[in-house]
Amino acid sequence: MIRRATKRFGGKLPRVEAMHSIVLPNPPPRVPSSVEVCPSILYFGTPVALISTLNLEGAANLSPMSSVWALADRLVLGLAQASQGCENFVRSGEAVINLPGPDQCVAVEALAPTTGRFPVPGHKRDMGYRHEGDKFALAKFTPLASRFVGPPRIAECPLQLEVRLLAAHGASVVDGADPGFLLLEAKVLQVHAHQDIVLPGSQHIDTQQWSPLLYVFRHYFATGGRLGRNFRAET
Ligand SMILES: Cc1cc2nc3c(=O)[nH]c(=O)nc-3n(C[C@H](O)[C@H](O)[C@H](O)COP(=O)(O)O)c2cc1C
Repeated sequence: MIRRATKRFGGKLPRVEAMHSIVLPNPPPRVPSSVEVCPSILYFGTPVALISTLNLEGAANLSPMSSVWALADRLVLGLAQASQGCENFVRSGEAVINLPGPDQCVAVEALAPTTGRFPVPGHKRDMGYRHEGDKFALAKFTPLASRFVGPPRIAECPLQLEVRLLAAHGASVVDGADPGFLLLEAKVLQVHAHQDIVLPGSQHIDTQQWSPLLYVFRHYFATGGRLGRNFRAET
């Protein structure tokens, strides 16, 4: 990651001079030329999340996802309506957004070709998905009771966010094509963090200890070392 970033900046990384000032390379690096491309997917790199929800009969379901972002105490999620996780979240209004680290990569990929839906929808069966009724057991994850919501947390995930659904918005139909997913706004009710990623005696996440698992054009990555810090960072 560092090596790639170094290449991107023409062999020179921006230097973090003091706590709040960054010195850009001088002369500026050559700007690469661009071509027009049509990638089949646009997953440019976001953290993997595992959303735990409850099925109608009360059993827990886990769904890997990566279309999730945070602003203030809200999360916005993009979930396919054909997924069991989406159905469960919209029906019950409750979920836990579990954030795995690189150590959970193999477990995430074990969950990847499965769905809690039975029977498996035709289009997913054609892609090789199979039904799985106990995803905690499949991924060898440990369920932990949540404080404010029904779905359990995943003990192995360094961050676990209990959420309540506030709004659901159907993705727009364009040229008669319905993309078939919902944009879901959720409020974070409680954050749980592994003790070793919290700065002792504070409410801050230790960014030297926490590393998200990134989903980049259907490949998994860990983050590299820190390149700098935002002028508003509190640690
Ligand atoms: C790493 C990863 C990221 C994914 N991101 C999303 C996503 O953001 N939204 C979505 O609807 N499906 C996403 N999927 C696909 C779902 O996990 C898949 O449809 C799964 O079958 C859902 O399980 P469920 O039907 O039990 O909810 C992702 C899959 C993987 C492996």
